Amino acid sequence: MFGIIIRVMELETTLEQEIYDRGEQGFKVYAKNMNASMQEKSKILAFVLPGNIVEFGCGNGAVLELLSAHFPESTVVGVDLSDTLLDMAEQRKYAGKVILKKADIIKAKFPENTLNTAVFCSVLHEVYSYSGYDRSAVRAGLKNAYDSLKPGGRLIIRDGVKPKNDLVGLSFKNEEVLQKFYRFAKDFGPYQIPYKKEGDIVKLRRADCMEFLTKYIYDVNWDIEVKEHFGFWSMNEYANELEKLGFRVVYKQSYLIDWLRMTHYEKNFVLFKESGGKLVPQPFPDSTMILVAEKP
Ligand SMILES: C[S@@+](CC[C@H](N)C(=O)[O-])C[C@H]1O[C@@H](n2cnc3c(N)ncnc32)[C@H](O)[C@@H]1O
Repeated sequence: MFGIIIRVMELETTLEQEIYDRGEQGFKVYAKNMNASMQEKSKILAFVLPGNIVEFGCGNGAVLELLSAHFPESTVVGVDLSDTLLDMAEQRKYAGKVILKKADIIKAKFPENTLNTAVFCSVLHEVYSYSGYDRSAVRAGLKNAYDSLKPGGRLIIRDGVKPKNDLVGLSFKNEEVLQKFYRFAKDFGPYQIPYKKEGDIVKLRRADCMEFLTKYIYDVNWDIEVKEHFGFWSMNEYANELEKLGFRVVYKQSYLIDWLRMTHYEKNFVLFKESGGKLVPQPFPDSTMILVAEKP
C-alpha cells in the first residue's frame, strides 16, 4: 500500500525559527533517540481510536509511522514547529494518508469536534520547559486538543512523570557518574538541585533524582536536555488538569522503561531509602506515564 504525504504551514504561527538550534549532530542524535524508542512508544497504539488522528509534536515522524501502519485507513496529522524534524518526517514511508503541519501546539487549532484521537508523546514536558516553565502553555495545548476532539474522542499522553518528593539516597558505582551528577545539579534548567553528600551517598528528593536519572545519559544534547523538566506534574496532577478541562480519565499507568533500568541505572547506581536508621535499597523511580482520557 502507498501512503500520501501532504505538507502544510499553519499561517497563524509566528515561529519561523527552530525552538532551539541543536546543530546538525544534535538533531541527528535527537532523531536517533526518537527512532530507538519506537517500540516502547508503540504501547500507546492500544488506546488509539481510528479516524482523524493528530500527533502534537510529531518530531521526525517515528510515532506517525506507527500510527499510519496500524491505522492505514485513518488520516494521520503530525504537528511540529521544527522544520528540520518535519523534513525528516517527510522522508518516511507511510502506510496511509499523513499530513505534516508546521504549527505551535500552544496555538494550533483544529475545527471543533473533528478528531478521534489526539496524541501527545514526549512533548508536553518540552512545551512546559520551552515556554519558561509555564504550566498555562501546557493547559492551552490541552484545551485546544479538547475542543478539537469529537465527543467520545480520546486524548493520549505519554511523558515524564513526577514521583513523590520524599528524600532518597543515591550511591554511584563510578566517579564519572558522580561528576555528572554535580554538573547536573548546577545545570538543571528550572532550579539548582538541592542535595547533601554523606559519605558515598548523595541525599536528594526523589523527584530530583528522577530528573537526574533521565538526563545523565545525554552528552551531545546535554545543554538542551538539562533545561527540560520531565516530571513537572505527577500522574494525579495530570489527571486533575484533564478533569478540569472536562475530560474523563479512562487509563493511567506509570512505569520505569526497562532498557533505562537494565542498560544504565543498575550499572551505575543504587537507590536507597532510610528506614529505621538503616539505608534500604529500593527500586528506581518511574520515568514515564501513559494517561488516556475521553471527551464525554
Ligand atoms: C522529544 S520530541 C518527540 C517526538 C515524537 N512525538 C516522538 O515521540 O517520537 C518532541 C517534539 O515536540 C516538538 N515541540 C516542542 N514544543 C512544541 C510546540 N510548542 N509546538 C509544536 N511542536 C513542539 C519538538 O520540535 C519535537 O519535535
